Amino acid sequence: MTDVSKQKKPDPCTFVIFGVTGDLTHRLVIPALYNLAAADLLPDKFCVVGIARTAMSHDDLCESLMTGLRKFATRPVDDAIAKRLLGCLTPVAADTSDPNSFDRLKEQLEKLEAKRSTGGNRLFYLATPPNAFAPITRGLGRAGLLKEEGGAWRRLVIEKPFGTDLASAKALNAEILKIVDEHQIYRIDHYLGKETVQNILVLRFANGMFEPIWNRNHIDHIQITVGEKLGVGHRGSFYDSTGALRDMVPNHLFQLLSLVAMEPPAKFDAHSVRTEKAEVLAAIQTQSEEEALQNSVRGQYQAGKIGDTEIEDYRETEDVKAGSTTETYAALKLVIDNWRWAGVPFYLRTGKALGVKRTEVAIKFKQAPFAMFRDTPVDRLSQNYLVISIEPTEGITLQFNTKVPGPVISIDGVEMKFRYKDYFKVEPATGYETLIYDCMIGDNILFQRADSVEAGWQAVQPFLDAWKKAGAKGLERYKAGGEGPAAAEELLKRDGRNWRKLG
Ligand code: BG6
Repeated sequence: MTDVSKQKKPDPCTFVIFGVTGDLTHRLVIPALYNLAAADLLPDKFCVVGIARTAMSHDDLCESLMTGLRKFATRPVDDAIAKRLLGCLTPVAADTSDPNSFDRLKEQLEKLEAKRSTGGNRLFYLATPPNAFAPITRGLGRAGLLKEEGGAWRRLVIEKPFGTDLASAKALNAEILKIVDEHQIYRIDHYLGKETVQNILVLRFANGMFEPIWNRNHIDHIQITVGEKLGVGHRGSFYDSTGALRDMVPNHLFQLLSLVAMEPPAKFDAHSVRTEKAEVLAAIQTQSEEEALQNSVRGQYQAGKIGDTEIEDYRETEDVKAGSTTETYAALKLVIDNWRWAGVPFYLRTGKALGVKRTEVAIKFKQAPFAMFRDTPVDRLSQNYLVISIEPTEGITLQFNTKVPGPVISIDGVEMKFRYKDYFKVEPATGYETLIYDCMIGDNILFQRADSVEAGWQAVQPFLDAWKKAGAKGLERYKAGGEGPAAAEELLKRDGRNWRKLG
């Protein structure tokens, strides 16, 4: 977590990127390294090794990364800084299915480390498709590249998706943990790189006034929304075998849920924070498949218009199977079985091709117990919400009732708003800077531990199973550009509640 005291330079190290020619490297990893270089937060002794399947010259790789940087940088690119960063780069061709490649890589790394005096500290960043995570880790392990020795650290950074269900996540954890220790693994969820997401901890635990009411006695329910305007675009092949639930819920939405619902950690360190997060995820009630069907909604977008942009029908998207039943919208009702949250539903929704982009956590407080003011029935009072906004505006809003000026008592709902940008001057960033910096300084507080990942999959598994069996039954087609499937409204109406409007 970023704080001023942490603005120290990381140890010397070699940053090894598997998948250097890929989209993630171009879009996020290099722009984030650039921002760290611009903030003078890269190690003084540093080198980047870019691994790709086919051999590439230094110039060609630099040119490609530079093009990416110009396109995706979050601030104007200073050529001198970019040149210095790319000057540290060594391309290496390696076929990761061939064990000999890792022996060769070891020799190359040792030579480079001697030349650049990086002291043998290595960070292996797997910016690859998920099916390469286990083979690469095996290859690195076999060649002895992950063994921490002589005071040097060895770290492994793994992107999402971590598994595709509970069984595959467990198998991947088991396989990787045979090779490296948990403290060496950094499972990235980019939501934890977002300032406002990190701020949930500060809001709850650096202020005395929220925690006493942060429980079932005062909170009616919690809504977590990640609504996106974009459709699936060119990711048809990945998305069609993944769907909204796998793509967003056990990772991003559960990060939000666990930060909002966790117990206060004893200390602000990786062990304590990650233990509390894992505990609360493990306390999500495992539903039967029948309950899962009742407590969920699936949707898939049809053609529509968002602003001036025409969105094609999901089923017409390149690389999406004809007649696909993959969901592009998912809404779930979950309950957490512990003393703090018993009886407080958590409603989660996420969808693509909606009319509005909005990521927020809305905490709905209970109504005032009786209508003290004449002619004001309790249910006519506006609702008390505390809304933590993550996208597109970063901030916090409190909704409450107030007296309308005038001789008679008349009540209306108003909002008190805090916006990050009104108080702090923050350089635009990719969100990966904090995460990459934390990997280099060895702080894994913002990374997922094996038990959290598995607890997340455990909670969504009944939904995956029930939906698979149901096939097309229960999948509602919704028009792109709207609020999503009508059944999602019903999910809350049935409980006498409603979603906050997206628009
Ligand atoms: C990614 C998903 O992990 O998160 C994408 O694979 C999704 O489908 C993205 O669009 C959302 O991230 P953000 O930061 O834009 O909310």
